[in-house]
This record gives sequence, structure tokens and C-alpha cells, in this order.
Amino acid sequence: MGCHAADGSANTKAGKNTGAHDFRLPDLEKETDATLIEIVSKGKKKMPKFEEKLKGKEIKQLVEYVRGFLQEVLNWVFGLELAARRKHDESSVRAWMQRGSYVGFSRRNACR
Ligand code: HEM
Repeated sequence: MGCHAADGSANTKAGKNTGAHDFRLPDLEKETDATLIEIVSKGKKKMPKFEEKLKGKEIKQLVEYVRGFLQEVLNWVFGLELAARRKHDESSVRAWMQRGSYVGFSRRNACR
């Protein structure tokens, strides 16, 4: 995902050149799955279409995957908030999150 970057930030040269979307932003929540499937299938402006390269099921899975970037941010914020509430020190929460046991998943390495 050269345009959207491994962390979904679109913080790549191609991402900046094309104006690719940062998947970690909450505005993705406003889009229905149908809309995102349509965008990945048919493309939109500088976003290429993938309907000839990917099966419908794969595009659906990619949309779920794309939604995961925002979820990860929310989990991170939730983790810190919970830490503050439970007076856990931040480093132990980070350690839990790195182990992925606290929030249930980590995807940073998965997309490379
Ligand atoms: C399979 C790989 C890809 C997936 C799953 C994907 C997914 C998406 C999704 C879901 C959006 C819509 C976001 C929204 O409207 O909130 C989007 C927008 C965009 N993507 Fe991708 N993308 C992929 C590859 C690429 C590539 C390779 C490029 C660059 C060549 C690209 C450039 C863009 C751009 C420019 C937009 C913004 C379109 C607009 O609204 O103007 N994407 N992408």
C-alpha cells in the first residue's frame, strides 16, 4: 500500500502526491462499507480501481482491514485513558499493547 503507507497514515511520497486518505482519521467512520467497497473496486480520482485485480471477497476484507487503522488508534487512546483511570503507569499499558493482549490485536507488522 505505497500510497496509504503501512500504518495507514498515507505519509508517503506517493500518498502526498495523490492526496491518498489517512485511514486513521475518524471521517472514515462516516463512510458505509458499501461506499468504501465501491471506491476500492471502481477507484476514485487518483485512487486506482482494483475490481480487475481483486475478487469481491478480497475487496471486502481490505475494507475491514482499512477500518482497523482507526480502531487501533481508538484502542491506543482507550488504553491510555484506562491507564490514567486505573493509575496504571503508561509504560505497563504500552507493554500490554505491544504484546497485543490488552486490546486484542496489533497489525503494524502485518501490513509490511
Ligand atoms: C489495495 C490497496 C488500496 C486500498 C484497500 C485503498 C483503499 C482506499 C479507500 C477505502 C479510500 C477511501 C477513503 C475515504 O474516502 O475515506 C481510498 C482513497 C484514496 N486512495 Fe486508496 N487504497 C488502495 C491503494 C491505493 C493506491 C495504490 C493509491 C495511489 C496510487 C491510492 C490512492 C488513494 C487516493 C488518492 C484516495 C482519495 C480519493 C479521493 O477521495 O480523492 N490508494 N483508498
